[in-house]
Amino acid sequence: MTAAQPIAIRPATVADAPALLAVFIRSITELAPPFYAPPQVTAWASALTAERALALITDHTTYVAVRTDVAGAHVVGFATFAEPDVFDMLYVDPDAVQQGVGRALAAVVEQHARTVGVRQLQATVSDCARLAFESFGFRHERPHTRILDGHEFSVTVMTLHLR
Ligand SMILES: CC(C)(COP(=O)(O)OP(=O)(O)OC[C@H]1O[C@@H](n2cnc3c(N)ncnc32)[C@H](O)[C@@H]1OP(=O)(O)O)[C@@H](O)C(=O)NCCC(=O)NCCS
Repeated sequence: MTAAQPIAIRPATVADAPALLAVFIRSITELAPPFYAPPQVTAWASALTAERALALITDHTTYVAVRTDVAGAHVVGFATFAEPDVFDMLYVDPDAVQQGVGRALAAVVEQHARTVGVRQLQATVSDCARLAFESFGFRHERPHTRILDGHEFSVTVMTLHLR
């Protein structure tokens, strides 16, 4: 077995929009089924369109994780910070999970939030990502129900105090 190639984190550009959409769909379709029912997974995976993926890059602060191998450079994850204080999205390609990609993206979002003066970072976290956010130091605030296309999702409102 060869070791995973190192990843680089950089700000997303508009050219990354199709890759963001692909990672979002693959991540939810393959990683969410143990936590949510099939209709919920379908509704969630349909929530991002090409237009909205582009808007994530133009309207928010979005970072991509890029891995380079013999086939070239590919986006394997992304994370988004939404003004004023929200860690809004974190998605990693199923082929790249549990290799530190999510943690590296979270660290960059946290650093960006500090830079713009955020004292307490907010996140509404899916059941699939709760352990990861706990390991990033986020604290549970309250359970919450998110409604997407008529489907209810149990999620957790979490916060991270930034020093
Ligand atoms: C949540 C997610 C972003 C984590 O990405 P990742 O690249 O696997 O995360 P990392 O490898 O950096 O792991 C970070 C921590 O998460 C935890 N973790 C990640 N996957 C886990 C799993 N399957 N089981 C248990 N813990 C897990 C570990 O505690 C790990 O800490 P460690 O390195 O000290 O062991 C990824 O699983 C994902 O995209 N999930 C589906 C989409 C989603 O729910 N996004 C969030 C929406 S709010």
